[in-house]
Amino acid sequence: MTAQSGQALLEITDLKKYFPVQKGFLKRTVGYVKAVDGVSLSVAAGETLGIVGESGSGKTTLGRTLLRLYEPTGGDVTLQVDGQAVPVMDLSGSEMRLLRRNAQMIFQDPYASLNPRMTVLETVGEPLFVNGIASGKEMEERVREVIQQVGLRVEHLRRYPHSFSGGQRQRIGIARALVVRPKLVVADEPVSALDVSIQAQILNLLKDLQAQYQLTYLFISHAMNVVRYMCDRIAVMYAGKLVEVGAKNDILKAPKHPYTEALLSSVPRTSSRVRSKRVVSAGEVPDLANLPSGCVFHPRCKYAVERCKAEVPRLRALDSARLVSCHRAEELELQGI
Ligand SMILES: Nc1ncnc2c1ncn2[C@@H]1O[C@H](COP(=O)(O)OP(=O)(O)O)[C@@H](O)[C@H]1O
Ligand code: SF4
Ligand SMILES: [Mg+2]
Repeated sequence: MTAQSGQALLEITDLKKYFPVQKGFLKRTVGYVKAVDGVSLSVAAGETLGIVGESGSGKTTLGRTLLRLYEPTGGDVTLQVDGQAVPVMDLSGSEMRLLRRNAQMIFQDPYASLNPRMTVLETVGEPLFVNGIASGKEMEERVREVIQQVGLRVEHLRRYPHSFSGGQRQRIGIARALVVRPKLVVADEPVSALDVSIQAQILNLLKDLQAQYQLTYLFISHAMNVVRYMCDRIAVMYAGKLVEVGAKNDILKAPKHPYTEALLSSVPRTSSRVRSKRVVSAGEVPDLANLPSGCVFHPRCKYAVERCKAEVPRLRALDSARLVSCHRAEELELQGI
């Protein structure tokens, strides 16, 4: 089941990524961590869809799997490129360039994601070269152009990553993603490793670049206030599954899933000086290799009833714009912001 608005640039259908859990000397597989377990989503051209959920809910795995940085356990992904539907999961090695030219990722950690032995010119130029887009002088021209668009200077091109601050490194990571002029960008917590004082600069840069290049963003974050600032629609993820999907304002004002309500309760209300509280009150994120019965959120849910322990709630349409997986979605009056 999917909810979408406008023409879908990206269509994800029943995507699964299970990691084997291995034990002992012979490394026998004794189970699976179901990091992404049947996720379906549509992302319209030009929109920003936020994926929000606590650490360990499968957000990064979802982003990496849909771009085939991980091979999926199951499911389909379709990307529209120049009026053609590209079946991402069926692309062979030599066809992967088509995906890499049109869909890129911005990584969470600007320290770990840049090769320390490559200059800025080499780092940002590499995707042009390896995807057969440009080389030599033409490549350097494209790099010069994008490096200025992300707020760096051409003098920076010969330098190595160690001489830059965290914020500047993330600008290099953004330039590397955008240099191929992709249609889709998966931004995986692009500011969470950065100093709070420079987070807004990077978020605003991403917004400006989106307008300039008509980018579509899948924006991953554990922080509801960041998603709130960046996104048109929000998909809430818990234990490898989507639990609620809807337009941003609907989700913020009137959440329909108790987990969404809990995430919202951590957002500072009036003053930005108010520190965020713990994200979700009771209990821990479940062990994804050993999930609770019924609704996987039931051990932490203050609205749980007997039925919740026995019966798995399916993600279902509450109205034309909202999906939710809670047995009690209609009757509960949940608190928004
Ligand atoms: N490469 C991997 N091998 C095994 N387990 C993994 C791997 N990557 C992630 N996981 C597990 O998958 C689950 C989801 O992780 P992740 O996608 O990183 O979540 P999030 O980005 O929401 O914090 C976690 O339990 C994590 O330990
Ligand atoms: S199905 Fe039950 S346990 Fe799950 S979120 Fe709804 S009320 Fe809570
Ligand atoms: Mg992550």
